[in-house]
Amino acid sequence: MEQQQPKVYDIPDDYKQNALITENRYHDMYREATEQNDVFWAKQAEIIHWFKKWDKVSEVDYHKANIKWYIGGKTNVAYNCLDRHVMSSKKNQAALIWEGDDPHDSKTYTYLQLHREVSRFANVLKKFGVKKGDRVIIYLPMIPELAISCLAIARIGAVHSVVFGGFSAEALKSRILDCDPKVVITSDGGFRGGKVVPLKKNCDAALEGTNVKTCIVVKRTHDTVPLTTPRDHWWHTETNSADIRNECPAEQVDAEDPLFILYTSGSTGKPKGVLHTTGGYLVYASMTHRYVFDYKDGDTYWCTADIGWITGHSYILYGPLANGATTVMFEGVPNYPDYGRFWDVIDKHQVNIFYTAPTAIRAIAKEGDEHVNKRSLTSLRLLGSVGEPINPEAWEWYHKTVGKGKCPIVDTFWQTETGGILITPLPGATPLKPGSATRPFFGIQPAVLDPTTGKELEGEAKGVLCMKASWPGQMRTVFGDHDRFFQTYFSQYKGYYFTGDGCIRDKDGYYWITGRVDDVINVSGHRIGTAEVESAIVLHKNVAEAAVIGINHKIKGQAIYAFVTLNTGITPSEDLKKEIVQCIRTEIGPIASPDAIQWAPALPKTRSGKIMRRILRKIADFQENEIGDTSTLADPSVVDDLIKNRIKDA
Ligand code: WTA
Repeated sequence: MEQQQPKVYDIPDDYKQNALITENRYHDMYREATEQNDVFWAKQAEIIHWFKKWDKVSEVDYHKANIKWYIGGKTNVAYNCLDRHVMSSKKNQAALIWEGDDPHDSKTYTYLQLHREVSRFANVLKKFGVKKGDRVIIYLPMIPELAISCLAIARIGAVHSVVFGGFSAEALKSRILDCDPKVVITSDGGFRGGKVVPLKKNCDAALEGTNVKTCIVVKRTHDTVPLTTPRDHWWHTETNSADIRNECPAEQVDAEDPLFILYTSGSTGKPKGVLHTTGGYLVYASMTHRYVFDYKDGDTYWCTADIGWITGHSYILYGPLANGATTVMFEGVPNYPDYGRFWDVIDKHQVNIFYTAPTAIRAIAKEGDEHVNKRSLTSLRLLGSVGEPINPEAWEWYHKTVGKGKCPIVDTFWQTETGGILITPLPGATPLKPGSATRPFFGIQPAVLDPTTGKELEGEAKGVLCMKASWPGQMRTVFGDHDRFFQTYFSQYKGYYFTGDGCIRDKDGYYWITGRVDDVINVSGHRIGTAEVESAIVLHKNVAEAAVIGINHKIKGQAIYAFVTLNTGITPSEDLKKEIVQCIRTEIGPIASPDAIQWAPALPKTRSGKIMRRILRKIADFQENEIGDTSTLADPSVVDDLIKNRIKDA
């Protein structure tokens, strides 16, 4: 198709011999998973401990958006991630290596130590009345208490919802109002790149006027923060209290009991609460972690994501810990104290497997190779990429400069909704093509559909990416709104799960993800809905209307570009732009700040009043030759003005 002949990297010999999944095994297992789906997934489920076996492997109906796995089975995620290993020879192995924002700050928890901390905090939660099924919101920086909280909540059968520390008070509040948590966990503040983030202050603002009766506060920055009585309690006082025991039996929960809710942006409305359940999610997270990263006992594994996103849930916490791995958790940023920080951490902890995002790779690569070359990096044997398509130039740099040409790169395509990786190379089984996520994981049946006819295309094809069959890690519903779940993912193409991404399948059956086909912008791997940003902009009293689109950006992948129409009589100014940016930061958070705001006397609309974003995208990306026919617009002349005044250095 449109792809030129890309370079192919063969599987390195040592992987051919020693990888968990070799080429033949991949094909055999893939075939088995497709032909005998339930038999395959029953076998794979043995990877975790069940208090009681399931009665039925799966029940899936995409026409009604009903998805269940391991029905009747009983298990517990924290038991699988901790107790199992404490009872084995891994008891004193490092479970979690925490690396602070400050390079001199790090701390290791063995499985035994982590088990103890989790049990103690689980007892604290119980003391505050948290029971099975209750929601608990976590608004913490990347500190060990974040991991401990998640596991403690899972241990007692409650449901966590982690809100990324970069979200604003308003964003936190809307999530609190949506899922009605019994307890909120936060900290006095957090450190990122040497700066303090005022989490408690945001949390106080978010909690105002809500039903939350208990807030537990971790001391991190030691800044003075006010505690509101009787609502707020210090983490350290509670966990160190003499009546808190070290034991807390793990609740035996149903395979389909909820494990967590994670809010994510879509093309319309407010972020939705993606709900994942227990058994299927854990089987899928641990199995993908083991095979995609070829994880073997003794490896040190580091995923640089934040636990506020799905990548952190599945591939810092649950997948690695279920596999008894040593997982690194990093509080800081790639450029503090300098652009070599990632490589320092790899050398310091002798990391073998490293998983990061293309945006980080590009940001570091642009600073030159010397930051990398000053470090050794000999411990590395496998690299990973996630969050957005990786451009071949960044891939090649990552492979050559970081991986010294000997580490395969697993470019993993997946989503918050999918719980785990769907399309990816396996390092011992897949020759690599830079820029392609390559082939489906076991049990994953991708389909490329023609976006207009909805017909499934065969062979080499370009279209929208859907999934034909379910897999255990798939989300089960949108919290509190099952109809939205159906409408968002199953209504466009009947009988398929629609990812929202476009893709190309090449002659070798390799998949090339081309990016979102809906109104979702992927800024540095963070999903941002255009509708959310527009709603924030129009909150400004002088704004009449706004349209937001994503433009290509060298480092971030995409950046936000906003067209804003002011109320009649209002004079545009730089101050007004600043106020609009502030509206966005207040409503969503700094990650949604636009790179450019262009004043638009009017927006291109159809006669029925629909904003033509396609045209706006072409204007902002300097592709006005491709705008095409504008005669259907209510007023075609607005396009000329927008072209004339577009922002050049966005
Ligand atoms: C994009 C992150 C290309 C895609 C795990 C998807 C990717 C969205 C890749 C999900 C990849 C993620 N190649 N695109 N390897 N990984 N994406 O929910 O557009 O934060 O739909 O999950 O990121 O983002 P989310």
